[in-house]
Amino acid sequence: MNFFHGCTALITGASSGIGEQFARQLAPHARSLILVARRLDRLGALKLELDRPGLTIHCHTADLADEVQTEALLAALAASGERVSLLVNNAGLGDHGFFEESDWSRVSTMLDVNIKALTRLTHALLPDLVRAGRGAILNVSSVASLLPLPKMAVYAATKAYVTSFSEALRAELRGTGVSVTALCPGPVSTEFGRIADRPGTGESLPAPEIFKVPAEDVARAGLDAVERDRARVIPGWFVCTVMTIATLVPIFIVRLFLTQRRAEKR
Ligand SMILES: NC(=O)c1ccc[n+]([C@@H]2O[C@H](COP(=O)([O-])OP(=O)(O)OC[C@H]3O[C@@H](n4cnc5c(N)ncnc54)[C@H](OP(=O)(O)O)[C@@H]3O)[C@@H](O)[C@H]2O)c1
Repeated sequence: MNFFHGCTALITGASSGIGEQFARQLAPHARSLILVARRLDRLGALKLELDRPGLTIHCHTADLADEVQTEALLAALAASGERVSLLVNNAGLGDHGFFEESDWSRVSTMLDVNIKALTRLTHALLPDLVRAGRGAILNVSSVASLLPLPKMAVYAATKAYVTSFSEALRAELRGTGVSVTALCPGPVSTEFGRIADRPGTGESLPAPEIFKVPAEDVARAGLDAVERDRARVIPGWFVCTVMTIATLVPIFIVRLFLTQRRAEKR
């Protein structure tokens, strides 16, 4: 973890799941952690847990679906004089069910957090990273970004944006000393599944145990990929193998499979 020694890391969605694990794993190495989420009590508890001499931890409450709050976060950051050297765009949420039955406010929040806030934070912080000639951006995407996913159509599309954006930005930044990595986990046991489930439907997000990777391992794989300057990582050998094969299947066969699944579930 030499790469992270003395870094200033901004982690969005640090109040639970994978984001909390990023904070835990970076705390022994970083000079400063900037933890962002809506639940300040959770961030405060994490700060107490991770506190050590030589480490400064700032907790910022911000609803990243709200443009005004995202701008306020950036303004507070600029005023604090902290220069972020590692941006971990981790905050995100899903929605499980048919698009035609979705709640618009949930869809809109997903677009705002998964796409807009991630892009805005990157846009605001990137010039400083480039000027410093050293830094990294770790975007938490998903294996859902690699194939269309019925009943998670918008979520998968937001993550396809994240993976595509990360790859293009990485190419643009070649030679600047700033790397971009897309972390593409399969199912992880966090609060994500409960939040993605629609209340009252009795349906829950299918997540076969065999595909599951612990949040701790997912965060480690992400940080390891940053350290090795890798473009993309799928944590867990089994998920990685299955997804690598799945992405090689011709799209017309994928379409047959996806359409059949929809007919079965109706
Ligand atoms: N779990 C999985 O199966 C899985 C698989 C692939 C990819 N991912 C991705 O991994 C990332 C982390 O998810 P997770 O599994 O750790 O889920 P999680 O436990 O639900 O954590 C999500 C984090 O995002 C934050 N967040 C959500 N909405 C926000 C908003 N409007 N403003 C600010 N922060 C917000 C939450 O904080 P507050 O609620 O306190 O605001 C929380 O800290 C997400 O991008 C997700 O899409 C997850």
